[in-house]
Amino acid sequence: MTLDLAVIGGTGLYQFPGLEDVERRTLDTPYGAPSGAVVLGRFRGRRLAFLARHGEDHTLAPHRVNYRANLWALHRLGARRVLGVNAVGGIRADMKPRALAVPDQIIDYTHGRISSYSDMEGVKVEHIDFSEPYGAALRADVLAAARRAGVAVVDGGCYGATQGPRLETRAEIARLRRDGCDLVGMTGMPEAALARELGIDYACLALVANWAAGCGDQAEISLEEIFANLAAATAEVPKIIAALLG
Ligand code: HPA
Repeated sequence: MTLDLAVIGGTGLYQFPGLEDVERRTLDTPYGAPSGAVVLGRFRGRRLAFLARHGEDHTLAPHRVNYRANLWALHRLGARRVLGVNAVGGIRADMKPRALAVPDQIIDYTHGRISSYSDMEGVKVEHIDFSEPYGAALRADVLAAARRAGVAVVDGGCYGATQGPRLETRAEIARLRRDGCDLVGMTGMPEAALARELGIDYACLALVANWAAGCGDQAEISLEEIFANLAAATAEVPKIIAALLG
């Protein structure tokens, strides 16, 4: 059975609103357990799968998420396109809190994460092309859907993937800016690379929760502000997905 879309929800998106005829599937995978049950259901008459990346109670830190198991489970259930929803900090001037963006590049600063399926003895090593880290088809579809839904989304930007779970120092963000990053988040990698290894059309919908360290005029980044901004940005996600599937 194929699914029309799978969505991996990030911070602030633990359930997909409006899913009907819901069935929860708890899968084991050769890579261990996914972050939780995959929720299968119908949305606007289409088949959609949803998985909360950090677990439904947000108990998994970014470096502890089993990205391989998550993507493998979704692929196994028939997902051929996956939209990762990721909370991020904004670096570039137009990536302001509550903005939504569909990045087109990545720089990976994470470390110690298992970042490939070619990581087992006896398994043939695959060197995927990753020049364009996101799927062109799904990126274009998401941007077109956002336009139809009347939701403003920034087209493009470079996602800097940091290790977390702490937020970055000002110096780290200044370096990311010099490197060309426009957004910073903790979960974009290895998710995108693993999706490519599985042949999944994968795109990221980034929700800007805060100005990254040193980018706004605040001395410190407050969690209340992050959650308020994320709640506002998250409310736009089902509108985009409804247009995407409509
Ligand atoms: N940095 C990294 N990840 C994030 C941020 C941030 O400022 N905000 C939300 N996710």
